[in-house]
Amino acid sequence: MKTSYCSKYGGPEVYQILEIDTPKPKENEVLVKVYRAVVSPTDGNFRSGKPLIARLFSGLFKPRVKIHGEMFVGKVVEVGTDVTDFDVNDMVYGTNGMKLGAYAEYVAVNVKNALKKVPKDLDYKDVLPLIDGGITALPFLKEAGNIKAGDSVLINGASGAVGSMAIMIAKHFNTVVTGVCSTDNVEKVVSLGADHVIDYKKDDFTKNMNEYDIVFDAVGKSSYGKSKNALKETGIFLTTVPTPGVMIQALLKKNSLNKRASFMAAGLRKPNVKIEDLSYLEELVRTGELKPLHGKVYNLENLGEAQVYVETGHKVGNVTIKVFE
Ligand SMILES: NC(=O)c1ccc[n+]([C@@H]2O[C@H](COP(=O)([O-])OP(=O)(O)OC[C@H]3O[C@@H](n4cnc5c(N)ncnc54)[C@H](OP(=O)(O)O)[C@@H]3O)[C@@H](O)[C@H]2O)c1
Repeated sequence: MKTSYCSKYGGPEVYQILEIDTPKPKENEVLVKVYRAVVSPTDGNFRSGKPLIARLFSGLFKPRVKIHGEMFVGKVVEVGTDVTDFDVNDMVYGTNGMKLGAYAEYVAVNVKNALKKVPKDLDYKDVLPLIDGGITALPFLKEAGNIKAGDSVLINGASGAVGSMAIMIAKHFNTVVTGVCSTDNVEKVVSLGADHVIDYKKDDFTKNMNEYDIVFDAVGKSSYGKSKNALKETGIFLTTVPTPGVMIQALLKKNSLNKRASFMAAGLRKPNVKIEDLSYLEELVRTGELKPLHGKVYNLENLGEAQVYVETGHKVGNVTIKVFE
């Protein structure tokens, strides 16, 4: 099978297209023919080996896992002997955890991971963004933010994978939503359903005093210190990219009802919890409340180029590698 292979740490040029043996699924694995794989901001870390601390997991001197790509959608073509919930020809989507492997024509996936059948009434391209931004935005707003109808919610980074999902999920909870993005993305954010849009190139949301019940910094570009005045007295600042300050706040003020900050490692939640959230989000796709923001699509040969784009920090929506269709 064809793979995009990474045998050493470095820039995007380290990826090589290689033909290797197609994996054989173990007893508890399914072999998935990959249709699309997500390119997320963290994927590039496995290639670059940065930040250095991450090498404790990814390999000290060279990548431990040579085929990257965590999130995917595709078709089951073989099932291991102990697998009962999946069959050949099922369309499935999910994550392969730290085993990665989705930047290839085929990936062997342990069924104990967050792996789910694509509902027959939904397009596989529309469910893939749920496993990327969706299952981050939902628990941040629902569990960490305790979002409720009537809240005033600000989403910073509204045109990204997490931010775009957060706008639509916040609208689903009947809140008043403000999206923050640059000039180029204002129309997109309006089309996602935001009630108000702040162009950060022209205005600074942190100057709006006592406005928001929730400030969700989906891209980690602001901070609790800067956003504090924009929060209502009982407001909460949420960020996907925590600073030590936010971690301390989250611990000290866990049960406080006053202004506070919080963080979640949404990606580390248990597979069954993620699968519940995916079912919830699928229903929103069905009702039309979630219309995933599809971003650029690349081929396996252009994985490096895709990562360069993602690493600009200005990608729109969900960026994917198309392998089969
Ligand atoms: N904690 C968790 O469990 C968890 C889970 C998943 C992801 N994450 C993290 O969440 C972050 C977001 O991921 P993502 O895939 O959504 O990112 P992304 O799609 O790459 O975000 C890109 C978006 O950010 C916007 N942006 C860039 N600079 C901005 C600024 N100064 N102010 C406001 N918006 C700005 C860009 O809009 P413009 O082009 O208009 O500037 C762009 O559309 C990543 O750091 C990721 O590692 C955390």
